[in-house]
Amino acid sequence: MSAPLPVARTVADLRAQVGAWKSSGLRVGFVPTMGALHEGHLSLVRLAGARADRVVASVFVNPTQFGPNEDFDAYPRDEGRDAALLAGAGCHLLFAPSVGEMYPPGASTTVTVAGVSEPLDGLARPGHFAGVATVVTKLLNQCAPNVAVFGEKDFQQLQVIRRLVRDLDIPVEIVGGPTARADDGLALSSRNAYLTADERPVAGRLNVVLSEALRRLRNGEDVSAIETWAVAQLLAAGFSSVDYVEARAPDTLDRLGPGATAGPIRVLAAARLGRTRLIDNMGD
Ligand code: PAF
Repeated sequence: MSAPLPVARTVADLRAQVGAWKSSGLRVGFVPTMGALHEGHLSLVRLAGARADRVVASVFVNPTQFGPNEDFDAYPRDEGRDAALLAGAGCHLLFAPSVGEMYPPGASTTVTVAGVSEPLDGLARPGHFAGVATVVTKLLNQCAPNVAVFGEKDFQQLQVIRRLVRDLDIPVEIVGGPTARADDGLALSSRNAYLTADERPVAGRLNVVLSEALRRLRNGEDVSAIETWAVAQLLAAGFSSVDYVEARAPDTLDRLGPGATAGPIRVLAAARLGRTRLIDNMGD
């Protein structure tokens, strides 16, 4: 049994602890989360622990990144379970602020990242990346870590965060952690908890179709033909609808031009299965 994890609920308490660590020469790693933790998050905590002397994780279900018809109210919340898992993975401090602490009355500043946040989930979830960019900017300013770790499963989010950190000169190293997967390759996600027993095997087809799409792109097959093929495969497998399957340049998320399949590629997908929306990506 690990000792109970200390919890900071205010920005002042978080800063006091991180400041004390840094002034004694310790390097601080940070893993922002929305809770409902699974092995994917814990692998990010361990990665932060390998790159820093102390690890802070935040659990904050950020209202500004959910659309009006999305699952903000239903999003699973269990702080006791999350804290125990974090302690077991080597985390030293949990930052668990209230909505009021993060967004005091009159809060009126939003961070928007043009370009990289516009396609894909930017189209499918209007306002989502402005909510993510705003809360991540705040969290990085509040914690002031040396290094922060985000999962590659949310690949577009990771690129949005890399861009805002560069553009706003936030002094932190951003590290992407590899996607943790179930035995059939399904990317671990807190939202997998919504899948029914019948839907679960269908969900496992998403990564299979993406890796086949990547293999065929690497063989030089036409980008839009492969994207169309992948959408058809997902619908035939039992997905209710497909928001997108697209091959893009990893850094900018720009569309691939003709012949670009010789360079770095990321294939990204979002598809719906009943009430669950799944995302995944693969590439260089
Ligand atoms: O990936 C997530 O869990 C969230 O989008 C993040 C980065 C914690 C911001 O709320």
